[in-house]
Amino acid sequence: MPGVLQQQPAETALQFHVKELHPTFGAEIDNYGFLVFRNTGLTDKTHVDFSRRFGDLDDIRPYMTGGRKPRYDYYELFDAGNVDGGGAVLGSDNPRSHYGKGNAFFHVDSSFNPRRASYSLLRAAQLPPPHTGGNTEFADSRTAFDTLPEDLKHRLLEKDYVGAHSLYSSRKRGSPSFFADLHPEDFPMHRHRIVQTHEPSGRTNLYMGAHLHHIEGLAETESWQLIWSLMGWSTRPENTVSVDWRSEGDLIIWDNTAVMHRAGGGAFEGKYVRDLRRTTVHDASSTAWGLNEKKDTRPGFNSAEKPASQKLQAAVT
Ligand code: OGA
Ligand code: MN
Repeated sequence: MPGVLQQQPAETALQFHVKELHPTFGAEIDNYGFLVFRNTGLTDKTHVDFSRRFGDLDDIRPYMTGGRKPRYDYYELFDAGNVDGGGAVLGSDNPRSHYGKGNAFFHVDSSFNPRRASYSLLRAAQLPPPHTGGNTEFADSRTAFDTLPEDLKHRLLEKDYVGAHSLYSSRKRGSPSFFADLHPEDFPMHRHRIVQTHEPSGRTNLYMGAHLHHIEGLAETESWQLIWSLMGWSTRPENTVSVDWRSEGDLIIWDNTAVMHRAGGGAFEGKYVRDLRRTTVHDASSTAWGLNEKKDTRPGFNSAEKPASQKLQAAVT
């Protein structure tokens, strides 16, 4: 029937609405927080070219110190993998391994930047053997808002809290002893409202995640209590899904202004290469810049910011 596709089996039937644009070859899928495309055949080049159709792309220049070259031919490709310069699995004591640990917490990409990200496009370049883990997991932060207890929902709407986000905060939480001498408070944070309208759908979203360092205007304990209750609520099992990567060329596109995501662990860690590469699209919505000044400073290790610790430098070089 035009407009609805049904997947089998019947007891897990899922309906999604597809607007047919042409009877034999075109369709529009609306209002999903993330979509998985299997075996796309995309290369580094076509991944970047395709991503440009979604808007202006972020790049990794802020993370390049001392004239260092990017790992791939494109500054627009972020490295979400566990591969060292020689193509081997990163050692667990490698600073980059410590840096990557923060991705295991539910987060949204680039909330620590003055201009946040809308879409991320993550592609598998090389995968570990099947059933060794390494899924990517998603949490529905729009439904999390919709289903909040009424009193909490009202409190959030009334107070209209502002979140302060920091890349260093999530890095430190991921590997506290390695980053013991790194103090997120020493760096500028970037500010975005917690409750926001997701403009493409008109729904309300909770914009949070692991880079959220504190909620402004609340004492430290109160801020943490609220952050953890909202994160806990948003990431309950019924609100999350784990997506397996099946073949090279698989691509997942998600909307950071509607969902959170995290890297799943597994038996592959420390043993097998999992090479995932990501492009990140700058948000173009009316709240893209949050409460931040519109300037192109992105937290990184080559920016005008106060230099980070040597360990941090090493983690991204
Ligand atoms: C990312 C990310 C998750 C993963 O690339 O932004 O968080 O599963 N990746 O590697
Ligand atoms: Mn991410």
